[in-house]
Amino acid sequence: MKYVRHEITPEELSRQAELMERVAELSAARETPPLALVDTYGCQQNEADSEKLRGMLRKMGYAMTQSEAEADVIVINTCAVREHAEQRVLGNVGALTHTKKAKPSQIICLCGCMMQEPGMAERIKNSYPHVRMVFGPHVLWRFPEYLLRLLTGGKRVFATEESDGVIAEGLPSERDSRIKAWLPIMYGCNNFCSYCIVPYVRGRERSRTPEDVLREARELVEMGYKDITLLGQNVNSYGKDLENGVDFSGLIERINDIPGEFLIRFMTSHPKDAGEKLFSTMARCEKCARHIHLPFQSGSDRVLEAMNRRYTREGYLELVRLARKYMPDVVLTSDVIVGFPGETEEEFEDTLSLVREVRFDALFTFIFSPRVGTPAARMPDPFTREEKQRRFDRLIEAQNAISEEKHRSYIGRTLRVLADGEDGDMLTARTSGGRLVRFPGGRELLGQFCDVEITSSNTWALGGTLR
Ligand code: SAM
Ligand code: SF4
Ligand code: F3S
Repeated sequence: MKYVRHEITPEELSRQAELMERVAELSAARETPPLALVDTYGCQQNEADSEKLRGMLRKMGYAMTQSEAEADVIVINTCAVREHAEQRVLGNVGALTHTKKAKPSQIICLCGCMMQEPGMAERIKNSYPHVRMVFGPHVLWRFPEYLLRLLTGGKRVFATEESDGVIAEGLPSERDSRIKAWLPIMYGCNNFCSYCIVPYVRGRERSRTPEDVLREARELVEMGYKDITLLGQNVNSYGKDLENGVDFSGLIERINDIPGEFLIRFMTSHPKDAGEKLFSTMARCEKCARHIHLPFQSGSDRVLEAMNRRYTREGYLELVRLARKYMPDVVLTSDVIVGFPGETEEEFEDTLSLVREVRFDALFTFIFSPRVGTPAARMPDPFTREEKQRRFDRLIEAQNAISEEKHRSYIGRTLRVLADGEDGDMLTARTSGGRLVRFPGGRELLGQFCDVEITSSNTWALGGTLR
């Protein structure tokens, strides 16, 4: 596979910065600052992109709102991974005809992965005339230019050119949290799992340089962030397109060397590229969270092959053994797809038995959703939706029992957790393994590591008291 990097030049980025200032002048000329709403669907990568959109909007003089009726600009950052996510987006966009009617100057924008699907921009153009701007993930950095064009009377914008994918450094970002931060280390995907649309809409794998990643990590630590999640569709292939020899384990080590008390998380790891080097690095680096999200997708070798996952059931189980050898207390979570085309009852049983054998702490379960343009969407699929739903329910039941038992085993232990939010009069926190903990405590503890004794549990969370 040929790797293609297309870094946006500093000249192009400074042109966008100038355009941001032009928009900011228009905003400043108004009596009150204009309002913007950014709505996000999909994965953490989209969350990180939305933080950049908000950062750019803020620089352009916008204040944020949660009200669709009040917003001058609405940006919907979409996801294409399953049909359900797409239908929700289209339903919500349809409903915005009312806000647009009540406020004709409102600028409605659609961006993200769904916009990069073939034919989607055309569909929006024809069926959703109230949408003024459509752009794909590759041109997110040009948002100021598109907004200025519309604010100065320009025509509707449709910017979804095909691209292997770009890297745009130095965009402003308005982060959602002051405690936890997303840190994208690479973009795109080369794996072409046969069911998945991500490589088509997000382009080829490309890594940010270790210098850029480390600069951002240091800034985050200096700003007081305590929980940094390195993002990529397959973080284990970080650096393969760079020539400086830093791989993912090397990157973790360098971030671990940054002074300060903080946690390093990452997602997602592809089992075909995870191994001893990663696990031993994690075990050695004290800031690395004791958690691996390692999607297995299916427990059947035939299905795994049809999915183009490039590992076997036994290979996956061996990886789990290895991870636990290096980190006996590691929390393991995973993704699984039920009802892949042609998956038989026996093949589903293989998935169920893998879940029972590994005993994941938590599982993200999905029913196969055919995505146009992917090989799996063209495979014969004789099983009914009801059959798939029945299997799905069985899988959830099995996993819930395991999660509940695993959580119960925490009772009596004292864990170091990071307090990161409030839930009524309780604080919420995460363990190093990412488990949710609720405990009574004051707001002054937010953003701090606390020792909490676990006193109760259920399928999804732990309860405790401060020690
Ligand atoms: N890159 C990550 C990996 O390979 O582990 C996953 C990224 S994907 C956004 C998150 C999850 O969505 C996948 O692990 C898979 O379980 C699920 N998924 C992807 N395409 C799907 C489809 N067509 N139908 C159902 N689930 C799907
Ligand atoms: Fe999709 Fe597979 Fe890439 Fe994950 S690794 S984003 S599932 S193609
Ligand atoms: Fe969805 Fe795009 Fe993420 S398709 S899951 S938002 S990479």
